[in-house]
Amino acid sequence: MYKTLLLPLLTLALRLVHAQEEEKISWPEPHPGNYTISNFNFDQGRQLDKLVLAYQTIGELKIEDDGTTNAVLLLHGSDAESGQFLVDSFAGTLFNPGQVLDAEKYFLIMRDGIGHGLSSNPRNTGLHASFPSYQYSDMIRADHRLLTEHFGINHARLIMGVSMGGMHSWMWGEEYPDFMDALMPIASQPVQIGGHNRMWRRLMMEVIQRDPNWEGGDYKKQPMGSLLGALSILQTMLQGPLSMAEEYPTRDAADAFVDGLLDLLAENPNAFDVNSLLYAYNASYTYDPESRLKSIKAPLTAVNTDDDLMNPPQLGTIERAVQDQMVEGLGRAVVVPTSNETFGHGSYIDANLWKAELMQLLERSKCPGEGM
Ligand SMILES: *[C@@H]1O[C@H](CO)[C@@H](O)[C@H](O)[C@H]1NC(C)=O
Ligand SMILES: *[C@@H]1O[C@H](CO)[C@@H](O)[C@H](O)[C@H]1NC(C)=O
Ligand SMILES: *[C@@H]1O[C@H](CO)[C@@H](O)[C@H](O)[C@H]1NC(C)=O
Repeated sequence: MYKTLLLPLLTLALRLVHAQEEEKISWPEPHPGNYTISNFNFDQGRQLDKLVLAYQTIGELKIEDDGTTNAVLLLHGSDAESGQFLVDSFAGTLFNPGQVLDAEKYFLIMRDGIGHGLSSNPRNTGLHASFPSYQYSDMIRADHRLLTEHFGINHARLIMGVSMGGMHSWMWGEEYPDFMDALMPIASQPVQIGGHNRMWRRLMMEVIQRDPNWEGGDYKKQPMGSLLGALSILQTMLQGPLSMAEEYPTRDAADAFVDGLLDLLAENPNAFDVNSLLYAYNASYTYDPESRLKSIKAPLTAVNTDDDLMNPPQLGTIERAVQDQMVEGLGRAVVVPTSNETFGHGSYIDANLWKAELMQLLERSKCPGEGM
């Protein structure tokens, strides 16, 4: 039951729930690995002598003589991790034989971005609030090194991401325009984070940093007050009110959701880490890809959902980007209409809502000679 309830919102809690449930895997088995970068320099001027990037892959890498590959890079959302994709609605809908990202054809790479999952983060390095304040630019640069230095990939078939990963996809297209055949940013906008989207991030950071139990980042146990503060903001932003009303129509149903979450936190007080949340939601501080959209060379399809509070399509930013600011003919912007299948921002994880667009994108970005 917590599966649908937490799916769009609480990836880490979801992982715990999965661990407690009977394992039901309906996609090809992933292989985990790590790559360690020595002396990694952050834009802000700090350095980590060892930056670990953890990842999972599915399928087999094929590198052609001309350097093209069957690699597909999948980029997760804020405070999520590679395992975010390993759910029925994503992996089980895309990675199986005959499906759009069939792992017998593609080499799927899901990495934990800097600060996330098993990659070096404020918690697992023991650095807490003295972990370098990483930005998306740092994450992209590290991911590029993972692909080139570790996997020997100098060209990817597709770079696709959700939420923060969607923002990363726009940046990849600008930073390394010749690196990919296709780009698919989902649930994102290619503009600086302002307005509502910045205010809730900033307020979440203030809630954490002003909690006396945060202790300058060196808390011995998770400061529950600020964790719940952060979760209440996320709860509001990540899932649309319409789907919540459908799924939890009564007071008691809504309270049962919150009670379930509180039980989970009581059992697993470290399901979340407030320092990691603080860092993850500040990592978009310098995100501002709008002025460089012309440098993107790969065909791109941007998908958003009509009931996404974080990226309201009414702003028109995506159409503007794709129609006026990108090279003509490269971009396509799609808005999935609100329905009983969408659930706000988190709808990105339901591949049934956009897999036809992905198929079309792969078709229109196909290299000559590439079979089906
Ligand atoms: C990767 O490193 C993390 C620690 O950062 C460790 O927990 C994990 O087991 C490692 N994974 C592999 C496959 O070696
Ligand atoms: C947010 O990121 C910016 C840019 O790296 C940095 O200057 C600032 O100190 C960060 N704030 C927090 C609270 O980490
Ligand atoms: C959504 O509504 C349609 C009819 O409008 C119905 O056929 C479908 O089963 C509904 N799906 C869900 C998940 O409730």
